[in-house]
This record gives sequence, C-alpha cells and structure tokens, in this order.
Amino acid sequence: TFVVTENCIKCKYTDCVEVCPVDCFYEGPNFLVIHPDECIDCGLCEPECPADAIFQDDDLSDEQQIYVELNTDLAEIWPNISLKKAAPADADDWNGKPDKLKLLER
Ligand code: SF4
Ligand code: F3S
Repeated sequence: TFVVTENCIKCKYTDCVEVCPVDCFYEGPNFLVIHPDECIDCGLCEPECPADAIFQDDDLSDEQQIYVELNTDLAEIWPNISLKKAAPADADDWNGKPDKLKLLER
C-alpha cells in the first residue's frame, strides 16, 4: 500500500486525490491519509504530490514507520476526499519544514 507521510502536514496540496482511481484518500484538518485496505497500489498518486509526501510502504524509512499506523487509524475516522481543493495559503512555506508531526491535527 501507499502511505502519506510527514511532509503533507500543513501542505495538503490535494493533487493526489484527483488521480486515485479508487478514491481512497481521507482528509483531516491539515493532513491526508490513504486507506490501506482500499489502495490498489497503482502508484499514480506518488509523482503527483508537490511535497513528495507519498511513499510505498516498502520504501519507508524507520522514522516514517509511524505513518503506517497513522494512515490506517485516521482513514477510519476522517471523511473521504476525492476532489482537489485549494491548498492552505501558507502551504509553500511549510513544504520541506522538519518536525511537522507535532503539528498534526486530528
Ligand atoms: Fe490511490 Fe493508487 Fe495512490 Fe493507492 S497508489 S492511494 S490506489 S492513487
Ligand atoms: Fe498531501 Fe501531497 Fe496529497 S501534500 S494532500 S499527499 S498532494
């Protein structure tokens, strides 16, 4: 499965949702996640993310492993998103900033 990771936080460009053939993205206040049981591993979303936040689970670093659980858990409680929307006004300022996990809103 594919996993949304830290650099999506406070960027949330949503280019990813437009290309997903099975609409398996779910939206929180400042982050998106992929439902692992719905993702068909097509890989279409990965190159679409301007923040390079999407990875195949096999390619995650040790520090990124926490995002497997976050995607699994939050996809169960957040609403589905299948249409692109405007990114936060300051998204570009946050792109690439370190230590964004503590800023994740549930
Ligand atoms: Fe959707 Fe394909 Fe990305 Fe999985 S890999 S989230 S199915 S676009
Ligand atoms: Fe997040 Fe990238 Fe999608 S920033 S909302 S994973 S396009």
